Amino acid sequence: MSHTATRKILVTSALPYANGDIHLGHLLEYIQTDIWVRFQKSRGQQCYYVCADDAHGTAIMLRAEQEGITSEALIERVSHAHQADFARFGVNFDNYHSTHSTENRYFSELIYTRLRDKGHIATRDIEQMFDPQKGLFLADRFIKGTCPKCHAEDQYGDNCEKCGATYTPAELIDPVSAISGATPEVRSSTHYFFKLPDFADFMQKWINDGHVQPQIRNKLMEWFESGFNEWDISRDAPYFGFEIPDAPGKYFYVWLDAPIGYLASFKNLCEREGIDFDSFWQPGSDAEVYHFIGKDIVYFHALFWPAMLHGADFRTPTAVNCHGFVTVDGAKMSKSRGTFIKAATYADYLNPEYLRYYFAAKLTSKVDDLDLNLDDFTARVNSDLVGKVINIASRCAGFVKKIGGGTLSSSCADPQMLASFIAAGDDIAADYEAREFSRAMRHIMELADEANTYIADAEPWVLAKQDGREQEVLDICSMGINLFRQLMVYLAPVVPAMAKEAQAFLNLATLDWHSRHEVLSNHAINKFKPLMTRVERDKIDAMIEASKEDLVEEQKLKDAPKGPLTDDPVADEVSFDDFMKVDLRIARIAKAQYVEGADKLLQLTLDLGGETRNVFSGIRASYAPEALEGRLTVMVANLAPRKMRFGVSEGMVLASANDDGIYLLSPDAGAEPGQRVT
Ligand code: MSP
Ligand code: ZN
Repeated sequence: MSHTATRKILVTSALPYANGDIHLGHLLEYIQTDIWVRFQKSRGQQCYYVCADDAHGTAIMLRAEQEGITSEALIERVSHAHQADFARFGVNFDNYHSTHSTENRYFSELIYTRLRDKGHIATRDIEQMFDPQKGLFLADRFIKGTCPKCHAEDQYGDNCEKCGATYTPAELIDPVSAISGATPEVRSSTHYFFKLPDFADFMQKWINDGHVQPQIRNKLMEWFESGFNEWDISRDAPYFGFEIPDAPGKYFYVWLDAPIGYLASFKNLCEREGIDFDSFWQPGSDAEVYHFIGKDIVYFHALFWPAMLHGADFRTPTAVNCHGFVTVDGAKMSKSRGTFIKAATYADYLNPEYLRYYFAAKLTSKVDDLDLNLDDFTARVNSDLVGKVINIASRCAGFVKKIGGGTLSSSCADPQMLASFIAAGDDIAADYEAREFSRAMRHIMELADEANTYIADAEPWVLAKQDGREQEVLDICSMGINLFRQLMVYLAPVVPAMAKEAQAFLNLATLDWHSRHEVLSNHAINKFKPLMTRVERDKIDAMIEASKEDLVEEQKLKDAPKGPLTDDPVADEVSFDDFMKVDLRIARIAKAQYVEGADKLLQLTLDLGGETRNVFSGIRASYAPEALEGRLTVMVANLAPRKMRFGVSEGMVLASANDDGIYLLSPDAGAEPGQRVT
């Protein structure tokens, strides 16, 4: 095996959107990809794993606006958060970039202009809903209204969650912009289209050539049979993205430049490390290119993307590897049930390698959904990793220390068994290669069972109590350590942090796949430390509770008043007319007194030049009543009366406040009680 030529492999995971946190659903993909990449690297392949944040589009622009920051600031912050999450889960990219990068602009323009110059771009006017208040065209999901079929209110622009009907936003009853609440208008604008039908034969051949899984191929063939259109790749300003060359005010749709982000991130890596980019991406390249994605984004990757690449004279991917969706305890991840679990929340409570192992134990090469059953998760991790694998080392390490002084025996107790463990590596490798991780884990655990049976049958702890059998005990335990070492080579792509500690314990320079051929004989090992603790159910429960709290925090953010570009949450704009409705008057504080039972309030009698008002005001912390009497201030005179515990408050005086105190407004000298303030 070690004599075959090194493969050149480029691997990607889908680029996560830069407007949300990484959650356990995402992690399935990044963990699956990372395991596969670590496996390739362990086998000595020249393998690169690149990713990036998907930073463009309306959703990101609006999110930034809502937070009162620039899009650039938002994507910068989210990129750091994403990378921190991935690092905690051992997802080890060779490069993590952004689609909002110079490389991506370059490749987006290059691919677009090549397609255009070959006649694969068309322009056409289309009519679309437009938010006159925000001044932007609305994608279907930004329009809400009453379902034309069942009359359910508050439904999205393209389908009804109540009755399942699909329709166009124009068919909605009483449509409103979900962004501003304004009634949308239909407007026309010129759009740019990628002429997909030009590539019909190419795409059909491509998906039948073994580049996608059989399930995916079948789904895509249905798409072909239903017929397909040109693909709209432009969006009008304002849009956070790249402007289309020679088309002022028109931007590349986020899904146009997102997959190009794979090229951009790899180019960025190539520049940094002196890798030959073209040798990976020119047509006829001998390198392999794999995209790992979820089943929701298949069209983009298995149809549009190969067509774009082909049309622009790049090679196409070797394969698009698609996985299913994560469910938790048999249901879609749910915020209210606390099963919409963020990566960071999980890692605050549980060891990320539990999840890596659990996913590996359930992943196949198919597209089926994967259920994270929390009881099964606990049982599986505890019984396999802790109960089987680590147990082998912990049973043997003590005797090696005591009898061998920490050095393994120079004779192998059962060479045949050890040889069979080493040979199993070829089958396990084939399963990893084929993304049959579940089968690989099962095989590894069968070997672990075998190793435990070997030790249990040999009973070194019984022999150790008998005189003159030390060498036998050392041989058995050295054998156990050697078997453990084989297992850690096989598990290392899945549990890299645990493998690193095992490597330190075993005192080895590497746990690479080929290193396993060298049997550890007369080899000094280090002190054994428990490599992983058991999963505790109460930690899982705490994580679920914390996930419910995450939801509350998010809700607060959504409900916060939206304002212009500032960090301070301030109220919405009001029109001049609305402002003029507020009747502000100069008032003289005729009388001020404490309120029994209210430690923040003062009761004020305000003179409005003839008329008096009774007002309760929360200014007691800063003002003694007698200091206020006779003083002028400003009041809201037409505030609806409010019934309080101490009486009715008929207005409000104006004051500002900070940590040090409260500051009542007062007019300059000469103002008269009752005068209107404008
Ligand atoms: N930005 C696009 C991808 C562009 S790739 C050129 C996107 N981003 S995403 O953040 O929504 O999803 C990133 C990946 O995570 C996708 O492959 C998606 O399928 C996957 N998953 C998101 N939620 C998931 C689950 N609940 N379960 C499994 N995978 C899921 O799509
Ligand atoms: Zn309906």
